[in-house]
Amino acid sequence: MKSLLSFALSTTLILRNTAVSSAASPQKCTPAPAPETPPDPLPVFDLVEYYYEPPSRQSPPELLSTQVSESQIRNKLALNSLALDGEDFDGLDYIFTKDAVVNLSAPIGVVKGRDNIKQAIRQVLTMGEGVDGHDLISSPLIEVDPQNPCSAKSLTYFTTTFFGVSGPLQGLVSTLNGEFRDIWVQDEAGEWRISIRILVYIGYPIGNLLPQ
Ligand SMILES: *[C@@H]1O[C@H](CO)[C@@H](O)[C@H](O)[C@H]1NC(C)=O
Repeated sequence: MKSLLSFALSTTLILRNTAVSSAASPQKCTPAPAPETPPDPLPVFDLVEYYYEPPSRQSPPELLSTQVSESQIRNKLALNSLALDGEDFDGLDYIFTKDAVVNLSAPIGVVKGRDNIKQAIRQVLTMGEGVDGHDLISSPLIEVDPQNPCSAKSLTYFTTTFFGVSGPLQGLVSTLNGEFRDIWVQDEAGEWRISIRILVYIGYPIGNLLPQ
């Protein structure tokens, strides 16, 4: 009787451990390659329908995994600002997949591949000697796909300000406003990166450092 009880107890413990470890390590992801060109940007009036997700009926372990993913994506977006402001373009290795594709809008347009993206972003941000940048982002909207937890989309508002701190542009300042619309994939190691970014500017540069 005693051994039966201890057998039952240890079985319960084993079952419990299995449940816990499968909650902690969700399925392994195999990221799909990024397309050659990004999809056309949706008009702003279509965005609410595109991003709205009804309440999900996920189990508690699935919900936990979704929330861990959201939090990693939120941190990656914050790292993106740090990489841009610090002109640490290699920091973008943590943000974009190797084959990512971005539409940086006019005048740069579509750029394919992480190394080319780094080069293009450097070109946008390097306004010359004596100019500092500040990339402020909003609280992002993040949706992990309930059908495929290896894929997610996010939308983040940004305000990028360029300050002339010394030299000929000292005292001048300009601000760009827009949205990052990102598609994320999770890799085999569980790390999230952007495979498609569409950058949509809202309005035109405000201020006197950049041409209008
Ligand atoms: C890139 O984005 C701009 C607007 O932000 C859009 O006008 C243009 O059509 C896009 N290009 C592609 C290839 O989707």
